[in-house]
Amino acid sequence: MEGVYIKPVAGVRGEIRVPGDKSISHRAALFGGMAKGETQITNFLLGQDCLSTLRCLQQLGVAWDRQGNEVWLQGQGMGAWQEPTDVLDAGNSGTTFRLMLGVLAGCPFSVTLSGDASLRSRPMKRVTDPLKQMGAAILGRSGGNLAPITMSGGKLQGRAFRTEVASAQVKSALLLAGLRAEGETSVQEPALSRDHTERMLKGFGVEVQCAETFVKIQGGGQLSGQKVSVPGDISSAAFFLVLGSLAKRGEILLPEVGINPTRTGILDVLRTMGADIQLLESSELCGEPRATLRVQPSKLKGIEISGAMIPRLIDEIPILALAASFAEGETVIRDAAELRVKETDRIRTVAEGLKALGAQVEELPDGLRIFGQPSLQGGKASSFGDHRLAMTWAVAGMLSKEGVSVENMSAADVSYPEFLEVIRKAAV
Ligand code: S3P
Repeated sequence: MEGVYIKPVAGVRGEIRVPGDKSISHRAALFGGMAKGETQITNFLLGQDCLSTLRCLQQLGVAWDRQGNEVWLQGQGMGAWQEPTDVLDAGNSGTTFRLMLGVLAGCPFSVTLSGDASLRSRPMKRVTDPLKQMGAAILGRSGGNLAPITMSGGKLQGRAFRTEVASAQVKSALLLAGLRAEGETSVQEPALSRDHTERMLKGFGVEVQCAETFVKIQGGGQLSGQKVSVPGDISSAAFFLVLGSLAKRGEILLPEVGINPTRTGILDVLRTMGADIQLLESSELCGEPRATLRVQPSKLKGIEISGAMIPRLIDEIPILALAASFAEGETVIRDAAELRVKETDRIRTVAEGLKALGAQVEELPDGLRIFGQPSLQGGKASSFGDHRLAMTWAVAGMLSKEGVSVENMSAADVSYPEFLEVIRKAAV
């Protein structure tokens, strides 16, 4: 396949409005579909992943309408959801798949969920096992671990869970099942994962009790339709934060980016590495904080990233690894074995791609060791169909000596369809 060539740039400039947050867009659509009354979502992400969530809702009988990135859902409550006549296709989206499983566990009908080849290889036991314990009947390949997965939902019993990995998808699926269950459902996580579900459920009128890494919900809560304004996605902004830090000159402004503390690990780590990132004009809307970010070039130094920091920047590790390959000294990323079960095995694919471009990287069982160098040669790299890799290699092209030809660049459509156009415009 012919790659998309990204040439080196002298500098960067511009004000870039990154698209709506992917995690928040999924939840706004899903909760709008579960609620009674109209939900209006502005700045909804039109990436393939969130469109998968909307399509699944349609198959379940939820009426919605869309104009540009505004979405209206006419929720009639969960009781109105209908048994779909075909398989629900979550595409590439783990969030669609796992959150849907949680909601459908409480629905009195049968449903089969599937997705693309990447999603069909990702572990689902972490959700299906606890849902079985709550009372759902679930069948799937590999003992219910791999999609396609068929579920017959219905009467659920609330339970107390202690999860092994910090995962917002697992936590959210269990809370959403807990909402339809009898009694109380709680989740104790090993470290705090993103808390958009908890915040948004409160916005939709459901009581959720949170204390650090513990969260609890009572069965029987009803959601009522809301207006949701989705902030810009910090995971999409991350590509420009690294580009703006490592470019030779210029400045990038990123207005209205979500800065929920469970997602801002990228800001903390880049700043500790020496990045010049300023937070301007912060505000809070619909329970989620946002700010304008300004980034200017600076020298970066290597860092160790591990422990509770990992869930706060899990999706940004590919672009952070690129930043580390330009930083002075060594960067070590540990406790990130979760990367092996993302859209690709991101420990392997990031290491392979960076090496192909001339970086010095070592794969660790649970992370990466990166030896920074003053420059990156460039060459060819594949996204392996993983959106975050496609965008990482495009940034690498701009920062490299001879540019990068990115194979399967269109994978970026999953979370940022206009990325290529936008990043090319930022070059000066
Ligand atoms: C997400 C949670 C994270 C993240 C994913 C989106 C969410 O996954 O990597 O991109 O919206 O809940 P895990 O729950 O598997 O950690």
